Amino acid sequence: MKFNIIAAMCTTNRGIGYENRLPWPTLPNEYRYFMDLTAKTSSPDRKCVNIRGRVTWQCASQEGRSRDVFNIVISRNPSDELRTDKYIHKIVSTLDEALKYVETSLQDQVETVWIFGGQYVYTDAVSHPSCDRLYITLVHGHHTADTFFPSFEDSFDEDLSTDLDRSLQKENNVTYRYKVYTLSRVRMPQK
Ligand SMILES: NC(=O)c1ccc[n+]([C@@H]2O[C@H](COP(=O)([O-])OP(=O)(O)OC[C@H]3O[C@@H](n4cnc5c(N)ncnc54)[C@H](OP(=O)(O)O)[C@@H]3O)[C@@H](O)[C@H]2O)c1
Repeated sequence: MKFNIIAAMCTTNRGIGYENRLPWPTLPNEYRYFMDLTAKTSSPDRKCVNIRGRVTWQCASQEGRSRDVFNIVISRNPSDELRTDKYIHKIVSTLDEALKYVETSLQDQVETVWIFGGQYVYTDAVSHPSCDRLYITLVHGHHTADTFFPSFEDSFDEDLSTDLDRSLQKENNVTYRYKVYTLSRVRMPQK
């Protein structure tokens, strides 16, 4: 099953996280864009799947823990707290296990599968054959980071056909821009 990746990345150092939070000040509009996109469906009978690593799940605010989506968390050694979390639909130990579970158990109920990070999960996801689109917010300026988004520019091209506000955004003294990328034609599987 195809999936999309969503991430916000610093343009100067590719940073995505610092000390288990985002490296930049709070960006409420960007957060809303992120949450809306990853929960939105065209069919009322279907939901989105959100797949995240254990650390990203634990960093998420309560507000970010919706039961309107299928939350799948990747952890090789889940704690009791994680196992009993009522917002988690399923815990798996790899990205492939998550995708297999969606295909076999949720397919008729799912519209879009989103990969939410963090670094571990993004690294597996960008080189995965089922990766379809990258929704990347490019955050300008220097922001100290300890987790980073993997290189993807050699394999993906910017997709200008997607309906998106491409203008420069600014809030909390931070400027950023929304971008979408699709797998480059040279890497597309031949029919
Ligand atoms: N800017 C953004 O868009 C964005 C989005 C998401 C997250 N973040 C940031 O990213 C940071 C967290 O990222 P992270 O890389 O530290 O953690 P992470 O990827 O969220 O979670 C790592 C954990 O997930 C499990 N896991 C997932 N894939 C694995 C693999 N291939 N190999 C081994 N374990 C795997 C392990 O859990 P167990 O240890 O339980 O086995 C591992 O410890 C935070 O600072 C967060 O704010 C930023």
